[in-house]
Order: sequence, then structure tokens, then C-alpha cells
Amino acid sequence: MASFPESRPRRLRRTGEIRAFVRETTVSPADLILPLFVTPGARVRNPVASMPGVDQTSVDELLRDAEEAMRLGIPAVLLFGIPESKDEVGSSGYHEHGVVQQAIRALKREIPELLVVTDVCLCEYTSHGHCGVLQGTDVDNDATLPLLARMALSHAEAGADVVAPSDMMDGRVSTLRNALDGSGFAAIPILAYSAKFASAFYGPFRDAAESTPQFGDRRSYQMDPANAREAIREVRADIEEGADMVMVKPAMPYLDVIHRVRTETEYPVFAYHVSGEYAMVQAAAERGWIDGDRAMREVLTSIRRAGADRIITYYARQFARGTAG
Ligand code: PBG
Repeated sequence: MASFPESRPRRLRRTGEIRAFVRETTVSPADLILPLFVTPGARVRNPVASMPGVDQTSVDELLRDAEEAMRLGIPAVLLFGIPESKDEVGSSGYHEHGVVQQAIRALKREIPELLVVTDVCLCEYTSHGHCGVLQGTDVDNDATLPLLARMALSHAEAGADVVAPSDMMDGRVSTLRNALDGSGFAAIPILAYSAKFASAFYGPFRDAAESTPQFGDRRSYQMDPANAREAIREVRADIEEGADMVMVKPAMPYLDVIHRVRTETEYPVFAYHVSGEYAMVQAAAERGWIDGDRAMREVLTSIRRAGADRIITYYARQFARGTAG
């Protein structure tokens, strides 16, 4: 085995060309999925204060953003809805003409080659902001499942390419699979938010999606940040129930979990670089405390290096354009 002075690792770092020649991990726009927030109306573009560079948009404006994403080589968008009205059971989330359902139809009509992934969860549509229906102050797992199935079906009927349950109810993946298969949608894949942790880093998203719980928190259904073995158990359960792709969320504080999931399964592994992770970099860059472009690239590279095949990130377009700003 060669050692110094024969071995000199710096030989491979001397120039940009040499560094690129031996680079182990790459990130390309084709690895990224862009989340979009759709709101009712026309010509609406509301900037999200805590996520500079991210807007809530009406369907017409959403089409522009999606078109740009496609031109930049991003293969998919992930849709979230901000509905006109909310109720106890989140019925605006599974309405045939809901905001997300309208957005899906418009996207598949105007940009058919762009993949449309939809978030399946009640929290944006319930008056209390929880991810399921309530029994007193508890989220009722089994009563929530049929509503999630209705939502997933309404997305599939509108033309969604992939449905992505993010609610963390037990049994949701098999419920969705059965519902889809029973209604002629056996070909629609499920991207399961399998290891979704109860995270402080979702704060800005809840501003963007207007989905902050009105009481309590999500710790009775989202995972304890301390648990990595349990993440594997969730991933295995989702795959057994019929998930086609699995996800770890958030990404950067859970790189070890991404790595473990990667070694545990042959299924495609997605990571969600969430709102708070994005906001941290944007805020520090705005103050001139860090170089936003470099930080963006370093973060996304680290998530790929940990083992994620694909990354859901608000940075998708900025990354593809080459600048975080
Ligand atoms: C819905 C959902 C959330 C996120 C994605 N889907 C919020 C939550 O669980 O509170 C968070 C995404 C982000 O922070 O970027 N359940």
C-alpha cells in the first residue's frame, strides 16, 4: 500500500478538470422534483414570506412555473393545495373540482410529458390542520384511511402520474393500493413518505400551505427524530403494503437514515429537502453570512451522497438555472 510521499491525495484535487474526473457524486436537474403550491383564482402569485423564491400560485401561473421546470430538465412537480374552504373532514381535498384536481388536469393538458406527483394528506384541507379526522383531540387512524383513498382516487381520476401519501397513518399504503387497483388505476405508482419525522423544519411549509395544526402537534403520527431503526421498520411496512418508492423526510438532519434506507432496500429512495432546510440557507445567504449558491449545491450533493436517488427540493429550478438567487 502506497503511503506518503508516494501517495499524495492532493494530486486528484489540483485542477477543476481533475476534480471533476474523480467526482463520486453528481446532482443533475433530472434528479430533482419541484414542489408547487396551488391556490384558487387567476393571475394569483403570493410570495411565501418564510420561503424567498417560493410562491403560492393560481393554476395559470403554476403552468408557467411548471413549464420553466420542464425546460430546465426537471422531470416532475409535486402538488400541494390551498383550498377555498376547510372543514372537519377535509372534503375540499377530495372534491372533483378541488384546486389540486384542477391543477392536475391543466398540467396534463398543457405539459403532458411533465410528471405530476400529488401529496395525499388531509392537513391542508381540515379546519383543525391535522393530517386525519379527529376523535376528540386524537387523530383517528382508521377513520382517516377511506378519506385518503378518496383523495388519491380523485387525483388519479384527474390524471396524476404518482400519488404520494404524507399523512403517516398506519395502513395508508395498502388502503391506497387497494382503492387504486379497485378503480382501474393499478398502473399508478405510490411514492410513500415512509420515514417522515415530526420536524421543526416544516415551519415555513405550514405558512405556505396554511396547514399549521390549530392545537397540539403531529407527534402522535409523525416519527420521533431520535429513531432510525423505526425508520427501517416503516420503510419495510410500506413496501410490504405495496409502495413503489419510499421517502425519507426531512433530508439533511436525517442523512444517516437516508443511508440506512439505501442499504436496506432496492426500491427507489427519495429524500425531501424540506421548507425549513431551504429557508435556513436562503436566510443566511440573504444576510451575506454564507454563499447561497455553493451552500445549495453542497446540501443537494450531500443528500445524493447519502444515498437518495431523487430529491424533492424548492431549489429545483434555482439549481437547474445555476444560481440560488
Ligand atoms: C403534509 C406535508 C407537510 C410537508 C409535506 N407534506 C407538512 C407537515 O407534515 O406538517 C412538509 C414539507 C416541507 O416542510 O417542505 N402533511
